[in-house]
Amino acid sequence: MSTVIIPKIDLIPQNGKKAAPGTLLDALHRRHTTREFSPEPLSDRHLSQVLWAAYGINRPDGHRTAPAGMALYALRIYVFLQEAIYLYNPEKNELAEIVKGDFRGMAGLQDFVASAPMNIAIYANYADFVTGDSKTDEALKKGADRMAALDAGASAENVYLYCASENIAVVERMMFDDNGFRKLVGLADSEVFQVAMTVGYPR
Ligand SMILES: Cc1cc2nc3c(=O)[nH]c(=O)nc-3n(C[C@H](O)[C@H](O)[C@H](O)COP(=O)(O)O)c2cc1C
Repeated sequence: MSTVIIPKIDLIPQNGKKAAPGTLLDALHRRHTTREFSPEPLSDRHLSQVLWAAYGINRPDGHRTAPAGMALYALRIYVFLQEAIYLYNPEKNELAEIVKGDFRGMAGLQDFVASAPMNIAIYANYADFVTGDSKTDEALKKGADRMAALDAGASAENVYLYCASENIAVVERMMFDDNGFRKLVGLADSEVFQVAMTVGYPR
């Protein structure tokens, strides 16, 4: 009887190991979902850095902290704070107010959402999936859902890793009042909801 040898490579175990503080490996060890938040507002630094991690510009050519299919940058990040809803503008590095008032409760169905200091809703504007080249644009039309979800997933993971590195609590969520939000701010049909996130200090 011949013995079958299955080729394999033993990998170096990582789980349970300590990584040097402040490294990406350390953030990966500590990345996790939290659903309990202090109502304390985020500091200006944390607010700015959460958004920069999500979709900020990190190079002189305007490219971002998150990869984006064909560098089309179709994502739009809406930010729900206690006083208003804003749209994140990465080029100007600012939040532009869209609606005044506390609409955090609209940002999800779970009970922590309305009192956590910050929620974000990531939409993809399908009208941005255009290059001007008809063959490419045809392919983009077919792949738009996948492009949008992959772009949003990369941004969401950036936020998770940034939060892990700063001991900030975060949860990524599919549950979000898309219809209510669309009506409230008059979103174009081309904007399609991808994912929401709640961010704050741990309780
Ligand atoms: C696409 C996606 C949707 C999610 N939706 C929700 C949600 O609506 N509510 C929630 O509490 N958690 C949600 N989560 C968080 C997952 O439940 C969580 O990531 C999973 O339990 C693994 O836990 P961990 O993130 O701590 O590793 C979602 C995660 C992803 C990636």
